[in-house]
Amino acid sequence: MKNIPFVDLKAGYYPLKDEILEAISDVLESMQLYIGPNVTALEDEFAAYIGTKYAVGVGSGTEALLIALAACGIKKGDEVITTPHTFFATAEAIYHAGATPVFVDIDPDTYNINPRLIKEKITNNTRAIIPVHMYGQTADMMPIVEIAKAHNLHIVEDACQAHGAQYDGKNCGQFGAAGCFSFYYTKNLGAYGEGGIITTNDVFLADTARKLRNHGHSSKFEHSLMGHNSRLDELQAAILRIRLRHLDEYNNLRRKIAKMYDEMLSGLPLRLPAEKLGNKHVYHLYVIRCKERDELIKHLTQCGISSGIHYKNPVHLQEACKPYGYKAGDLPVTEAICGEILSLPMYPELAKSDIAYVCECIREFYKM
Ligand SMILES: Cc1ncc(COP(=O)(O)O)c(C=O)c1O
Repeated sequence: MKNIPFVDLKAGYYPLKDEILEAISDVLESMQLYIGPNVTALEDEFAAYIGTKYAVGVGSGTEALLIALAACGIKKGDEVITTPHTFFATAEAIYHAGATPVFVDIDPDTYNINPRLIKEKITNNTRAIIPVHMYGQTADMMPIVEIAKAHNLHIVEDACQAHGAQYDGKNCGQFGAAGCFSFYYTKNLGAYGEGGIITTNDVFLADTARKLRNHGHSSKFEHSLMGHNSRLDELQAAILRIRLRHLDEYNNLRRKIAKMYDEMLSGLPLRLPAEKLGNKHVYHLYVIRCKERDELIKHLTQCGISSGIHYKNPVHLQEACKPYGYKAGDLPVTEAICGEILSLPMYPELAKSDIAYVCECIREFYKM
């Protein structure tokens, strides 16, 4: 029996090992661990990659969202519209900015926020929209940008799962006031620890975010804002600079793997991921949908295959969100898919023979 992990971080590390160890050693020899040449260079290189003027390295994707919201002026009493089908951090960032999350149901094909349902949730208190580019595919940005313009709302993109994903030929992270990325180690661009980055074309937002990530520091001994301790460190930045050079190559491998899954799983009573016309999906996750999800997981486990669920419970029904007053049935598309989604093994180095094995095991499940 094979043993197929859900992600294989070592397979990504070994080909770059010498380069990464040298970069780590250079940082340690310099003992410049505080925001320094690697953080600054990564910010320039990442901004150039995404296509924005500025990027600001921070401590995590969650803090990228929180700092971006604060830099947009989001505060107590404000409402921020987002999707309930996301990692919990999106809602947490809204809460910690002092605002209230307002959840809008998702599109049944892409599992991203449904733009047609946004308008009815806008009130006098709405200040921002956070579209989340789930699994590596961008939300439908054109209608979202139009709604935001018409209602004078900020857009803060949650691109934590979507480094290099494109909408209409443009990288996500440049469609709104700010784009927020996570460098959590399993992401398409992962550090070997925690990290995140904010992209923006707005010089004021970039400057404010730089202050907020570093205790509101405006100059030595002076603090003009109440900020956070959320600096990206030099070691992570040095590693990320190397991995960023390979991001497109990794994303293309992920796309090839997705295509193989698509072909090998076709004809089964499963819903495969739908790449929308004009989108470049970067398959942070390859998520199928099936009624017998929990039995299929058991079968895959027996076959030595690890899988995942992203995510099992919708955010609006989490206990922590009780104060917002949502109940089961309020956001039916999200609630329906949470019981049916299943993430298959996905990482750039996943071998064709392993993909074939995963698909064979799934076929076998449907014959049983
Ligand atoms: C959609 C989404 N938003 C936010 C985050 C938070 O990022 P981090 O773990 O770097 O804080 C994640 C990370 O899992 C995520 O997937």
